[in-house]
Amino acid sequence: MALVSAKEMLQKAKAGHYAVGAFNINNLEWTKAILQTAEECKSPVILAVSEGAGKYMTGYKTIVGMVKGMLEELNITVPVALHLDHGSFAGAKACINAGFSSVMFDGSALPFDENIEKTKILVDACGVLGISLEAEVGSIGGEEDGVIGQGECADPQECKTIADLGIDMLACGIGNIHGKYPENWQGLRFDVLDNIQALTGDMPLVLHGGTGIPDDQIKKAIALGVSKINVNTECQLVFAEATRAYIEAGKDLQGKGFDPRKLLAPGAEAIKAKVKEKMEIFGSIGKA
Ligand code: 13P
Repeated sequence: MALVSAKEMLQKAKAGHYAVGAFNINNLEWTKAILQTAEECKSPVILAVSEGAGKYMTGYKTIVGMVKGMLEELNITVPVALHLDHGSFAGAKACINAGFSSVMFDGSALPFDENIEKTKILVDACGVLGISLEAEVGSIGGEEDGVIGQGECADPQECKTIADLGIDMLACGIGNIHGKYPENWQGLRFDVLDNIQALTGDMPLVLHGGTGIPDDQIKKAIALGVSKINVNTECQLVFAEATRAYIEAGKDLQGKGFDPRKLLAPGAEAIKAKVKEKMEIFGSIGKA
């Protein structure tokens, strides 16, 4: 199946009370592991690319080529969106030109009027091309690939204003943080989420910082309108842990254990298991 916009899969998720996982990719192994898991689970999936990961993989065109090639060579039949994560205005334009099927413009650090103005331009551009667009109000706390947020909660009225511009999904800060949550984290602000959903209606809401949010809070967030959940750090942690175990066991020193196809295999398997676990919690299995 060709790349698709995230619009339809998220509208279906919102109506069906489940969420689609957006998993960040870093390289070929990551991408392959996530696509194979989505196919095996018959789940729609979003491959997310931060601007930093875009540079690391040598640019957006390389990523589009790699993902499109994999969809064909791996016979992927489930809906897959290729999505820019926390994009700048310039990054969003570059991904639109490179062939991404979905982009996020993160204008949350800008004055609100400027966030509106730039989001509006992208609504028009994406609308013409059938590309889905995510906007953000209220920053996500913590740091991801150089994007640092203070973690303030979104203003529900501002959320409505941005949602009404014609975007396809809305990220709103509700006490969520990128990376590991601190011991004293107070949990998600369901009161804020409830108010946002009351004002934005059918708009699929996006929960960033999926790593480490307890399952019961994830399920409650989905019940309150969250239809896309972003996960990045958890895949990185299990990949690193499995790779470390392989090396610490001296397996790279046995036979041809140093072959990268062997060395990176335990990490890839760990990503698959983590993605499947998340898809189960999000309720997206069998929804393709
Ligand atoms: P985590 O790294 O905390 O899972 O967050 C991922 C994310 O929100 C990507 O935008």
